[in-house]
Amino acid sequence: MKDIIGIGLIGAGRAGMIHAENFVSRVPGARMAGVADNSEEAAKKAADRLHIPYWYTDYRKLLQNPEIDAVIVVTPTKYHKEIVLEAAAAEKHILCEKPMAMNSEECKEMIQAAEEHQVKLQIGFMRRFDKSFRKAKEIIDSGEIGQVVMVKSLTHGPSTPREWMYDIEKSNGPLAEVNSHDIDTMRWLADSEAVSIHAMAGNFRCREAAENYPDFYDTVLMNVRMANGAICNIDGAQGVRYGYDARVDVLGTKGLVQIGGLKETTTVSCTKEHGMSSGIIASWTDLFSEAYVQEDISFVRCILEDTEPEVTGYDGWKAVEIVKAGNRSIKTGGIINLNEKEKPDGEEKKC
Ligand SMILES: NC(=O)c1ccc[n+]([C@@H]2O[C@H](COP(=O)([O-])OP(=O)(O)OC[C@H]3O[C@@H](n4cnc5c(N)ncnc54)[C@H](O)[C@@H]3O)[C@@H](O)[C@H]2O)c1
Repeated sequence: MKDIIGIGLIGAGRAGMIHAENFVSRVPGARMAGVADNSEEAAKKAADRLHIPYWYTDYRKLLQNPEIDAVIVVTPTKYHKEIVLEAAAAEKHILCEKPMAMNSEECKEMIQAAEEHQVKLQIGFMRRFDKSFRKAKEIIDSGEIGQVVMVKSLTHGPSTPREWMYDIEKSNGPLAEVNSHDIDTMRWLADSEAVSIHAMAGNFRCREAAENYPDFYDTVLMNVRMANGAICNIDGAQGVRYGYDARVDVLGTKGLVQIGGLKETTTVSCTKEHGMSSGIIASWTDLFSEAYVQEDISFVRCILEDTEPEVTGYDGWKAVEIVKAGNRSIKTGGIINLNEKEKPDGEEKKC
């Protein structure tokens, strides 16, 4: 194994550039070797800005470059499967952004391809590398709050979604794009798997989408029962405007762990005119910037030390399974039992 892992970025958009910047200077044992984006402008701009030696408009060319040992897949979700299968066949290790793929079948194919070609497959649930989430997990694992009986996790994003997200069939909606993180940390913190799900949703702020995309929802609540008996609630919203809000409560038989808050800093100003005020966290890019660095460091470490990634393809698959069940529950109004077989996409429309 090489001492320095050559990294190739596939998809140089918002999240892709966060990873690329980390790999340029903050990840020991790695160097940015190439970037591919089907937008020539995006690929070239990323290469120029970060002095990346190779850029491509076709990711297949990047996969042929022997200087690249591992790829970061950060394209829109619907392309993840195809790219991951080809990356595995080219024997490149893979860090694939969340949501892992569009459905369980795709996830299983991706896991199988990574196993077959003996490459690492890590999924981009960076909250597991965030200091506060890690501390919470440590406290829970120590037994300090007893047995976990309830997890309540919320994520509210300030901006309205991009248009491709309005079509739930194509995007899997906010449960996938926003709440995948809550779903993953729910499984992680409760240390159990979901067995039944009921979700309700509505579109309250994206009224312009209502006519063409009547299934689109911008607000969702999902209740989940876990195999160990814990009861969980996931709360998601987009376009809330007030800030980026990510908070979790974990209730145990002996205590409570809370993660997150709205305040940008601990600074509070007090005046007669404005009362008491403090800044609100504006974006996930601010809140989780260090978590992305730690995620990227962990990915390279698992390659260099030949260990299992801290977040696996299995974790990615289980989150996708819960998203699909949640969307099915929203559509049918029913409770979805997860030992039920997930229906192929086409059949889902009939529910
Ligand atoms: N972990 C997180 O918190 C987090 C945050 C944001 C986005 N994401 C995920 O990252 C992925 C990308 O999201 P984004 O917000 O960065 O999107 P984006 O639209 O900003 O960027 C996507 C980039 O991929 C490029 N692209 C599209 N198809 C391609 C292809 N076939 N080959 C190469 N490049 C291609 C586009 O030109 C674009 O530059 C999504 O799966 C999203 O859910 C994760």
